[in-house]
Amino acid sequence: MRWRVFQVLLAMIVAAGMTTFTLPAVAQSAARPQVKLPEGPVRSVLLKNCVSCHGIDDYAFHAMDRKGWQELINTLHKEQRGVVLSRRDERILLNYLEENFGTESVPFPRNYVASEITEFFDNPQARIFLEGTCTECHELRVFEHRKDVPGWRALVLDMRERGASIADLDIEKLVEWLGRVRGTNPVE
Ligand code: HEC
Ligand code: HEC
Repeated sequence: MRWRVFQVLLAMIVAAGMTTFTLPAVAQSAARPQVKLPEGPVRSVLLKNCVSCHGIDDYAFHAMDRKGWQELINTLHKEQRGVVLSRRDERILLNYLEENFGTESVPFPRNYVASEITEFFDNPQARIFLEGTCTECHELRVFEHRKDVPGWRALVLDMRERGASIADLDIEKLVEWLGRVRGTNPVE
């Protein structure tokens, strides 16, 4: 009987060990881009043709010219998955893709994993960091914007892809601070 209790306890300990072991993997999944559903005619084109299988966020992983986008629609979608688009819808869609995710845009890094932070910027620290890191290329621009945390992360990652030197941990400290003081729920 004693042995049985021991076995049960052992099984519980192993199970507990396994859950704590797998938890970090969930917290560490790669960050994802966020693409806002656009206004205008392209909105209904997307809703009609492009959202039944997956969302529109993944478009931001790409920065391609019109030919590249046409290719992605042709092979991955028309040929392989039988997606049918009217000529008009296709033209509107390609205009949108070329304009927003063209060669001028910066693709969202596919493998970026948000580091967990335990220290947080206060206002003076954030200001010093911004002055030191961002003004290398342009005046501070964050005070004209409001975004949620994923939106700020996408922006700061964009800046890093353009050449700003920021470590992963500092990205997350900055993004947390921006989400707090320049988030979408202003406390003015
Ligand atoms: C019938 C289902 C279906 C529809 C409708 C669909 N897609 Fe896809 N799409 C997929 C699948 C499945 C993949 C992943 C293919 C792969 O990686 O092999 C994909 C991949 C993509 C990717 C690449 C994503 C990445 O992670 O890099 C983009 C961009 C994309 N689709 C855009 C569109 C657009 C624009 C439309 C509207 C014309 C659309 N999709 C409609 C099924 C669909
Ligand atoms: C290596 C140069 C460089 C650095 C460093 C840099 N940026 Fe930028 N930033 C750019 C470029 C290039 C653009 C886009 C062209 C433009 O608007 O001037 C831009 C645009 C922006 C915009 C406007 C985007 C929009 O959609 O209107 C914001 C906000 C911004 N940067 C914030 C930051 C912040 C915050 C930092 C520091 C973490 C930073 N930048 C560091 C080069 C840089």
